[in-house]
Amino acid sequence: MSRPEAKRLRSLFAVAGLPCLVGLAWLLIDRGPAPAVGAPVLTADAPDLLLRSGGGTTTIHAGDRAFSLSARSMGLPDRIRFADGDVPFEHPFGPEDGLGASHNADSCLGCHVGNGRSPAADGFVADAGPVLLLALADGSPHPDLGQQLQDRGTAAEGTLTVDWEEEPGEYPDGTPFSLRRPVVSVDGADVSGLATSLRAAPPVFGGGLLEAIDVADLRALADPDDTDGDGVHRDDPDVQAGAAWFTQIGCAACHRTEPYVTATVDVQALSDEVITPFTDLLLHDLGPGLADDLPQGVATGAEWRTPPLWGIGLTGVVGHEHYLHDGRARTLEEAILWHGGEAEGARSAFMALSAADRALVLRFLSAL
Ligand code: HEC
Ligand code: HEC
Repeated sequence: MSRPEAKRLRSLFAVAGLPCLVGLAWLLIDRGPAPAVGAPVLTADAPDLLLRSGGGTTTIHAGDRAFSLSARSMGLPDRIRFADGDVPFEHPFGPEDGLGASHNADSCLGCHVGNGRSPAADGFVADAGPVLLLALADGSPHPDLGQQLQDRGTAAEGTLTVDWEEEPGEYPDGTPFSLRRPVVSVDGADVSGLATSLRAAPPVFGGGLLEAIDVADLRALADPDDTDGDGVHRDDPDVQAGAAWFTQIGCAACHRTEPYVTATVDVQALSDEVITPFTDLLLHDLGPGLADDLPQGVATGAEWRTPPLWGIGLTGVVGHEHYLHDGRARTLEEAILWHGGEAEGARSAFMALSAADRALVLRFLSAL
């Protein structure tokens, strides 16, 4: 019996053994795409790898709950465990739960909206991030303010304002674009002389799978010779051509297209799964355009961990769209144009493509 078949059979047994919970299972099971206006449509003939970058755990759902559903291949006990864990994630905390007089938000979901990103664009809304990280020059926390500005609550430490500065640019073919850079100011707290870094909340789906990747696989990836594969195939000619450009112009050097096989972990559905998150999970210096002066762990202020690109085409289903660590990129195209440093070559190669070929790369990203 193949592994997916075995998993399916095991989850069937779980259901058969617990008939009284079937009603609950029905509540937890995805009943297909919600009819959302303007939501991306995933067609059955899209390349399998793109549709199934999470292997058997992948959710085929393009509505506003796309990021909120449990792994599809989970048996009932793990779905219940997932639902239990989701309760505190969605719970609005109050003083009775320990919410302090200064804080950043009153729930996880307040920032990780629909398990996706925090709102950005014009005006960050109350209780929804972003977060301003703070540090002394050596990276250690500020003795009073700690590691981040707590900008909400009756005893808020200060008020955070984000303005945007537009920076016009041009492709070699003359097509103009404009990128925006955040300009952060704080009222009510003295952050002068501190290192600061603005962070939008990233999506949280798929974290269990990333955690199940064997660290030895990542160490092997740090070897630059290990970047030559291309696991992307399989039916839409535009997506296929975009995928080919993606590897050819060097994006896959970091947003790796070869699959991983996850280790055996305590959640069976996340174990021994073939996944393609489109990341090497390594730190890269992306140049001065994105750098701030705040070191974090082993990362310098110019280094960022390659984010997974799986599901990135569905970003907008939670009601807003923005990219990069601080949400400055309004579109996928802007996200690419901010790449510099180690990704300078890939960015330049993207810019040198014809407008039609650039559109294919973007088409590929939106299919993920
Ligand atoms: C005030 C907004 C905010 C709230 C509330 C919040 N987060 Fe986050 N979360 C962030 C930001 C910003 C980051 C990125 C931090 C960074 O870049 O260092 C993050 C990162 C994460 C990550 C890491 C994702 C990754 O890809 O590395 C996880 C997991 C996470 N949060 C879970 C939670 C949980 C669980 C809660 C509730 C207990 C929560 N968050 C509440 C803003 C928030
Ligand atoms: C040297 C490694 C590297 C290369 C090469 C690279 N990227 Fe990235 N990419 C990153 C890192 C690191 C980030 C996160 C930067 C940040 O948040 O400020 C990122 C962010 C992104 C994002 C935004 C993701 C999100 O969740 O907000 C997109 C989209 C993206 N890259 C696409 C591409 C494309 C397309 C190419 C090829 C033209 C490419 N990248 C080449 C490392 C790389």
